Amino acid sequence: MNSFIIHGDICYSTDKNTLVTHEGGYLVCEHGFCKGVFDAIPDEYANLKIHDYSGMLVMPGMVDLHIHAPQYAYRGLGMDRELLDWLNTYAFPEESKYGDLSYADKAYTIFTDAIKKSATTRLVVFGTLHREATELLMDKLEQSGVVSFVGKVNMDRNAPDDLREASAKASLADTERFIKETQHKYNNTAPIITPRFTPSCSDELMQGLGELSKRYGVRVQSHLSENPGEVEWVRELCPWAENYGEAYNRFGLFGKPEKTVMAHCVYSDDNEIARMKENGVFIAHCPASNTNVASGIAPMRQYLDLDMNLGLGSDVAGGHSESLFTAMVDALQASRLYWRLVDQRQKPLNVTEVFYLATKGGGAFFGKVGSFEEGYECDAVILDDSLLPHPQKLSLQERLERAIYLGGDVKAMKAKVCRGKVIVRSEELGVRSEELGVRSFRKR
Ligand code: GUN
Ligand code: FE
Repeated sequence: MNSFIIHGDICYSTDKNTLVTHEGGYLVCEHGFCKGVFDAIPDEYANLKIHDYSGMLVMPGMVDLHIHAPQYAYRGLGMDRELLDWLNTYAFPEESKYGDLSYADKAYTIFTDAIKKSATTRLVVFGTLHREATELLMDKLEQSGVVSFVGKVNMDRNAPDDLREASAKASLADTERFIKETQHKYNNTAPIITPRFTPSCSDELMQGLGELSKRYGVRVQSHLSENPGEVEWVRELCPWAENYGEAYNRFGLFGKPEKTVMAHCVYSDDNEIARMKENGVFIAHCPASNTNVASGIAPMRQYLDLDMNLGLGSDVAGGHSESLFTAMVDALQASRLYWRLVDQRQKPLNVTEVFYLATKGGGAFFGKVGSFEEGYECDAVILDDSLLPHPQKLSLQERLERAIYLGGDVKAMKAKVCRGKVIVRSEELGVRSEELGVRSFRKR
């Protein structure tokens, strides 16, 4: 079960500075786990089935550390406001529709179909505050074969009437029920505690969420230091907190005791950064969103140099695209502007680094995920980059770079593997109709 070999032009990261490439390599997957990448098939695996993708790009599945499923319906619209105004004008009215399960069903079917067809194999997802709609979303994500953490959002203040829970107690009771109903229900889908952000959650609610996280061993996701107006508001709401991060940390919602991912961190001060480093908080860098809602540019070179836990987030629909290939390009471009306009000591990111962020960096939130090194869970994406023709000879690294910039995930995806299971084949993607090149291999 879940044991096979993938033959192709294989790329993966071992660390933030190292991209390994194997032209015509053999990736061995045994019981869903990578055994390594080899130039020839080792004797002990000679009887495994081969998926023959000769001449195609084979890379780890992409990891999206931050995405809002209910916002997918209006992606690409309403990019004309700053964060807080944008939330009130676009995000909140759309999210209030998810009290209607038939609307949620339609919208979440579209969302999960898009995720299935993308290069993403792992994601950390915001739902809405509606428990039933969020559980419906989890059912659909489970069916798609990807691995995800999904949060029922908490909001008990500073929101419109139809998007504000009745009280902290009511919000906590509903969240506890959500955890109990979903924690052991799925193979690939798990709940995550999701205070929207400090402005939406009273201290009493945060306190209770910290207790739930600890009692049930459930991870945490939220937003942090995204936008100047938001950071200023948190200062007013929590005068006792020395920085925004402390408004989570005080309640046990900041990497300890449970793994936590915070989106953005554009305006984190030195103390906040030091606490994130100490607590192992993951930062989801969301460059498209930070540009679209005019938040700013996160200091990613500084975070990389500090060896923080880092990955990328699409942040749909602050971000307009669910593609992690787009997110990689956005991260590269934003870092160049940061270097040019903000601080010339902060070297721009390179392709090796953003590929690491989109795979092994974000994958660490899920465990041994996002690489093809021995012991890693086998998530893979296969791209037929002959659909992006070129006259000149290119190295494998150049082919990868070009596929990233040219949107190869959309144009050329051939198959997707998650936890050692093929979950998407080319026929479903409408790219090519021929069968997968699967054949039995016998050593000559
Ligand atoms: N902060 C609080 N809610 C949101 C949201 O939905 N999107 C973004 N980008 N930031 C937020
Ligand atoms: Fe967000």
